[in-house]
Amino acid sequence: MHPVCIITVFQCFLGGGINKINRLFSVAPMLDWSDRHCRYFWRLLTKEALLYTEMITTGALIHGDRKRFLEFSPEEHPVALQLGGSDPADLARCARWAQERGYDEVNLNCGCPSDRVQSGMFGACLMAHPQRVADCTKAMLDVCDIPVTVKHRIGIDDMESYEQLIDFIEPIAQAGCTVFIVHARKAWLQGLSPKENREIPPLNYPWVYRLKLDFPHLTIVINGGIHSLSECNTHLPRVDGVMVGRQAYQDPWMLAQVDNTLFGIDKPPPSRDDVMNALFPYVEAQLSRGVHLNHITRHILGFYQGVPGARKFRRHLSENAHREGAGLDVLREAYALVSQTQAQHRSVSTSQLTGNESNGQ
Ligand SMILES: Cc1cc2nc3c(=O)[nH]c(=O)nc-3n(C[C@H](O)[C@H](O)[C@H](O)COP(=O)(O)O)c2cc1C
Repeated sequence: MHPVCIITVFQCFLGGGINKINRLFSVAPMLDWSDRHCRYFWRLLTKEALLYTEMITTGALIHGDRKRFLEFSPEEHPVALQLGGSDPADLARCARWAQERGYDEVNLNCGCPSDRVQSGMFGACLMAHPQRVADCTKAMLDVCDIPVTVKHRIGIDDMESYEQLIDFIEPIAQAGCTVFIVHARKAWLQGLSPKENREIPPLNYPWVYRLKLDFPHLTIVINGGIHSLSECNTHLPRVDGVMVGRQAYQDPWMLAQVDNTLFGIDKPPPSRDDVMNALFPYVEAQLSRGVHLNHITRHILGFYQGVPGARKFRRHLSENAHREGAGLDVLREAYALVSQTQAQHRSVSTSQLTGNESNGQ
């Protein structure tokens, strides 16, 4: 067994980083996307998936409107707060607040390559400073009982070898972190935009599988380019969990099958109607608190992707939800458009069927 594994097992027994969350499937932290409204909507589709907040910087929590940044609905559990930062004391303060506020996990972002993030010395550029990340995780673990996890890339810039990836992970694992979420591609800190950095560097899943073989006592979650639950199933025998980002956002209906297919929950998945009907009271409550309709509905534009009425639903919301004073009726109208289109499709199919039957007689 690798020496880090022995240390990690020991630390687990001591209590540092004990991990009771089922990490089989999680939805990725996505700036501007995985906000609380989006997470509430996702939770109507899957009760089991672990949901991550967008990255929140330590600076925002320490100097900004902390209460607002940390707010979430009780229904969102299990939910992890992702932090951006590189100062151990600041991160420890924020991790403590996260625990007090009721988050189930704190995650440190070591994978985001944007310029803004690099100038603050956090995100992917931290991969060049493993000891600093180890100090940060230790500082967080020292002050809280919830798991402290790290999300990172397989390398940055000229980190070319698997051994360099190990050099990054080892000190952090020695500091007590037991969960690593690995976006299976490198990040180029110069020359590529954050979007390009999610598309251009090639995916290297075998390195992530190899991490699990080399560090069997660490929890290794694979991320990057996963498009379906059947793809999740091909990864799962080799790692402890999968994390999906863009696909879940663009086609959220995939989440409706997660509890059944991946977690083995013996309960029928919700229908789209169930989800919409459960969303209405939430939207109503948020509107009454002064939230703009568009801030919620922008996350559900892809909900009917691939079914009749999808385009009308999306168009109605895109054209109306941003208007001043837009209310729940806009969402109800969009829903009614889908229902009408589907009813028309059904009656066309029925008449075709009846026609076929009469032709056959
Ligand atoms: C719009 C957007 C915002 C993102 N913001 C974050 C972030 O705040 N923190 C983070 O660790 N990763 C962020 N990511 C990266 C995702 O968490 C994920 O690692 C990446 O999209 C690869 O997974 P996927 O192919 O399943 O989308 C973001 C991705 C997108 C598309």
